[in-house]
Amino acid sequence: MSTKVAVLVSGTGSLLEAMIGDDLPIALVISDRPCRGLEIARSAGLPTVLVERTDFSKSFDREGFTGQVVGELKKADIGLVVCAGFMTLFSRQIFESFGGRILNIHPALLPNFKGAHAVRDALAAGVKETGTTIHLMVLSEDSGPILVQEKVPVLAGDTEETLHERIKQVERKLYLQTIRRILSGDLQLPG
Ligand code: GRF
Repeated sequence: MSTKVAVLVSGTGSLLEAMIGDDLPIALVISDRPCRGLEIARSAGLPTVLVERTDFSKSFDREGFTGQVVGELKKADIGLVVCAGFMTLFSRQIFESFGGRILNIHPALLPNFKGAHAVRDALAAGVKETGTTIHLMVLSEDSGPILVQEKVPVLAGDTEETLHERIKQVERKLYLQTIRRILSGDLQLPG
């Protein structure tokens, strides 16, 4: 397996920024929309591709979008795909080529609070602690085998923003550490 890493972003890109700051070797950054994450990658001089998603309706051509991303990953000979705040779900096609080699990080202790509003949902549920989960991506959202989790306390007065930022502080360290362990062979991916 190639050890070339691609990072996929859609938003703020603070996890990507931490990876760049720590000199993680990144061969490609893919974004599904213009965003700060893409700008950070460009400023760092990394190869970037914007596979722009303009359709957020039910008729979105997920198959076509996934095919374009798979094409870019293959062209760059990517071995490990790291989703870092990437917000488009893929069709089955990507798992045929990269299954078991796509990491995702989710800001909750899965299987609790799946989906796009995990921090908000945890706050609304009144839990005393939440956290972050690094897992292998599978077709079903936020459901793949869990590799690592870390707890984060919910504090009195937390808002979605303050809690998410505290979770991200943990994520920036844990994701880097986990990716490095995978690349060095210290952590074997299941399957
Ligand atoms: C992280 O909290 C991650 O768990 C979730 O999206 C967020 C990405 O943050 N999937 P950023 O865009 O890297 O700042």
